[in-house]
Amino acid sequence: TGYITLDYGFKNTGSTSSAITFLDGEKGILRYRGYPIEQLAEKAEFLEVAFLIIYGELPTKEEYEEFKDAIVHHTLVHEDMKHFLEAYPRGAHPMGVAASMVCSLSTFYPESQDPNRPKKAIDLTIHRLLAKLPTIAAWSHKFSKRHPVVYPNNKYDYTENFLYMMFSMPTEEYEPDPVVAKALNKLLILHADHEQNCSASTVRIVGSSQANLYASVAAGVTALWGPLHGGANQAVIEMLENIRKDGGDTDKWIAKAKDKEDPFRLMGFGHRVYKNFDPRATIIKKAADDVLDKLGVVDPVLDIAKKLEKVALEDEYFVKRGLYPNVDFYSGIIYRALGIPTEMFTVMFALGRLPGWIGQWKEMIENGEPIGRPRQVYKGANKRDYVPIENR
Ligand code: CMC
Repeated sequence: TGYITLDYGFKNTGSTSSAITFLDGEKGILRYRGYPIEQLAEKAEFLEVAFLIIYGELPTKEEYEEFKDAIVHHTLVHEDMKHFLEAYPRGAHPMGVAASMVCSLSTFYPESQDPNRPKKAIDLTIHRLLAKLPTIAAWSHKFSKRHPVVYPNNKYDYTENFLYMMFSMPTEEYEPDPVVAKALNKLLILHADHEQNCSASTVRIVGSSQANLYASVAAGVTALWGPLHGGANQAVIEMLENIRKDGGDTDKWIAKAKDKEDPFRLMGFGHRVYKNFDPRATIIKKAADDVLDKLGVVDPVLDIAKKLEKVALEDEYFVKRGLYPNVDFYSGIIYRALGIPTEMFTVMFALGRLPGWIGQWKEMIENGEPIGRPRQVYKGANKRDYVPIENR
């Protein structure tokens, strides 16, 4: 009833007030709970940032130990869940696997569905999600290759444990490389939250119907999968590979991106909110140089990416529209240097974004927000009478 404002894609519609992430798209500022992303990426640990996002403050030493301890005790995934993994086809996309496995957790832990939402049950669900997603992610990779899964080893910290489960083989011991673990820690922090983006809004809207947190996060994973959102990191590397195979002619691909008849877009470019630069991309570009250098990796697509960026930044089409490299433009190059396969890139994004989804869900619950239910403007047929099938 009443007057309805239409806003396709919610370009100018605020859906909530939030105290988690501050973002200034014009100035390229990003802060979690007031702390600049640059400082957190340089100095913090991912789980510390997760605690900050979810509970509002950086943890004290005691709080942090307790938090890490609670997570470590839930890194195993129920053995029965391995049967689901066995049933997926070889090469199944790990995002499809991750989404359904996360949703399945709710069937193993029904206390997450308690409508009274006791604090203890919420905290348990939070610990379980943070603990189990890396295991699910690494196992989905192992199963897609038909390799045996590697159980978590809690002598390692969060990022090391993930690398260990990804890369260890029964035939060959794997010791996580500190350079790799540090780079991964930074990437996860840079992805940890980004206010009301597509997947966070999805988590909030699903959660607003009082669906449980596992189900809400699973919906976030599926929203992230799309190439206009988190799926862009996989699409960027595929694009760069295609350009390389095509002889490295960046001008040709820039022309394709500008051609309005051609659906091709320059993946990893442009952002709904950042119109000057994406502060995450600035940090990631520098980290890509550092990591490749430290690991002694030479990747020809890094040169193509830099060339593409240079050409695009000088091109009127991109300048006029405020299209700059976003977080996904250089992240894939780092993941590749760390040995992470391309189809796992968006899962890496999900591992990083998990605290954001949890924090957004928790904030919505604590705010007592009503069910999310947008309106529409009807533009279909006027009333008409049913026509029996033989008369149509
Ligand atoms: N290449 C070529 N043209 C583009 C691009 C691009 N990557 N991005 C936007 N444009 C053009 C678009 O065609 C439109 O032109 P015109 O005004 O002539 O119609 C104009 O720029 C505005 O674009 P829009 O699609 O209306 O902007 P939006 O805010 O709805 O979309 C976006 C933002 C990120 C979806 C879009 O820039 C895009 O598709 N980028 C490529 C995919 C990508 O890198 N996604 C990752 C986003 S950042 C991390 C994340 O969210 O996961």
